[in-house]
Amino acid sequence: MDIPLLDLKAQYKSIKNKIDDALMRVVESQYFVLSQEVESLEKEVADYCGALYGAGVASGTDALILAMRALGIGEGDFVITSPFTFFATSESISLLGARPLFADIDAETYNIDPNKIIKLLQSADINVRSRIKAIVPVHLYGQCADMDAITEIAEQFHLKIVEDCAQAMGAMYKGKKAGSFGSAGAFSFFPSKNLGAFGDGGIILSQDEAFIRKVKELRVHGSREMYIHEEIGYNSRLDSLQAAILRVKLLELDSWLERKRVIADKYDKAFTPLGILPPKVDENNVHTYHQYTIRLEDRDELMQYLNRKGISARVYYPVPLHLQPCYKNLGYSIGSFPISETAAEHVLSLPVYPELSEDKIDYIIQTVKSFFGS
Ligand SMILES: Cc1ncc(COP(=O)(O)O)c(C=O)c1O
Repeated sequence: MDIPLLDLKAQYKSIKNKIDDALMRVVESQYFVLSQEVESLEKEVADYCGALYGAGVASGTDALILAMRALGIGEGDFVITSPFTFFATSESISLLGARPLFADIDAETYNIDPNKIIKLLQSADINVRSRIKAIVPVHLYGQCADMDAITEIAEQFHLKIVEDCAQAMGAMYKGKKAGSFGSAGAFSFFPSKNLGAFGDGGIILSQDEAFIRKVKELRVHGSREMYIHEEIGYNSRLDSLQAAILRVKLLELDSWLERKRVIADKYDKAFTPLGILPPKVDENNVHTYHQYTIRLEDRDELMQYLNRKGISARVYYPVPLHLQPCYKNLGYSIGSFPISETAAEHVLSLPVYPELSEDKIDYIIQTVKSFFGS
């Protein structure tokens, strides 16, 4: 049996007529960039996430870049984030001329540990501390970071928060959705994400109208009025075709997330007795299982075994950001963030998607069990 990590063909099949109608609506209109379609999506995603305003952009990476740029983060600034995430989180900081300052993660949720943020702030040299401008918590694998603790720290140290929500559309912390806590929430619509387009895309959400206005200027070459450029901006716009697709998928999202939680529950029950650590869901959180990520000693052996049996399983992420070749100049080394390093050595993500049939779920469970000889 062949089981991919994600089956986007099956997803398309389940909503084909609605998607095709939406695509034709845009084709007939011949408005392809931004447009009414994007404005409607911005409003609908903001409503869904409990934010007041949204601005569609070209990718999740751009969402991070434009959000931080609109908050005034730039050359010589420092931004605190997690070393255990996809590279775009810190890349966006670096591209603005700022420097990532990493704080290690919690060993069970894999999200940035607020205690490590405090330690970092307290031990930072006074020259560095005065230039730390923001915290970028990543809601990794689809579960929110500890936003109460992070918000408290941000208030105490006068820092902005830009939530990296790329993996967490629909995730909840204490009844509030990801993207509604910080100065901004940055989301990715990359096809594999909880809400995925048919290409690249992203959105920035906020409660602050003036901030979103600024983002909307930045995404069209720093221009408020056509051909008048207030500042150097970007070409980072969301396409109408993507917006039309996303508007259809947004209506399905809650039922998809619910189905993923049912699958995750089956996995949890089957794997725990094997000595595998299933994803820890913090009591304040509703997880979205962008990834279903287990931790175990013999990670590489299990991954190879599953792959041989036709089951895709992958490591997100094998090399923490502080050990990336491009960050040699930041002065970190092996041992700088031991919890992230251990996670990178032992995590493994298994297929979890709404269209996964019962027989495939059973096959995955039985195959994992057979690896452990049970
Ligand atoms: C945590 C995280 N941040 C940022 C991004 C960047 O999003 P995109 O690929 O849409 O640029 C991703 C997506 O891959 C991600 O997983």
